[in-house]
Amino acid sequence: MSFQWKDRYALGIPEIDRQHGKLFEIGTKVYDLALLNDSYDHYDEIMGVLQELLDYTEYHFNYEEELMKTHNYDGIEQQHKDHSFYVLKIKSISSKDIDENQQKTTIEIVDFLSDWISSHILLSDRNYATFFKEKGIIA
Ligand SMILES: [Fe+2]
Ligand SMILES: [Fe+2]
Repeated sequence: MSFQWKDRYALGIPEIDRQHGKLFEIGTKVYDLALLNDSYDHYDEIMGVLQELLDYTEYHFNYEEELMKTHNYDGIEQQHKDHSFYVLKIKSISSKDIDENQQKTTIEIVDFLSDWISSHILLSDRNYATFFKEKGIIA
C-alpha cells in the first residue's frame, strides 16, 4: 500500500492538477495516521482529516462538474455518478465504529482512496482533459 502522487496523474490542466495534488496531500495525511501503530487515541485527528478530505473533494468535484457543464462535456453524468459513489463510500466507511477500530478503518479508507483516485484520474478525468484539449478549451 502506498499513497503517492505520480507524474502520470498529471492531465496538463494546471488548476486541475493542483487540485488533484491537494487530494493526494490530504490522502497522505490519512495514510500517515493509518501507519501509526501506537496505543494513543487518534480519534480526533482521524475525524479531522476525514472531514478535510470530504470538504476538499466536494470542492474539487463541483469545480470539475461546473467546468464540464459550461463546455457541454457529454461524460458529465458518468463523472457525477463516480463522484457520488466516492462520497458515499467515504462517508459509509467513516460512519463505522472508528473509535473502536481506528487503525483498521483508517487503512480501509486509504486502500479505497488510493485505488479510486488513481483509476478515476487516469481513466475518467483524463477523458475530459482530452476532450477539453481537442476543443481548445484549456491549453
Ligand atoms: Fe478529479
Ligand atoms: Fe472527476
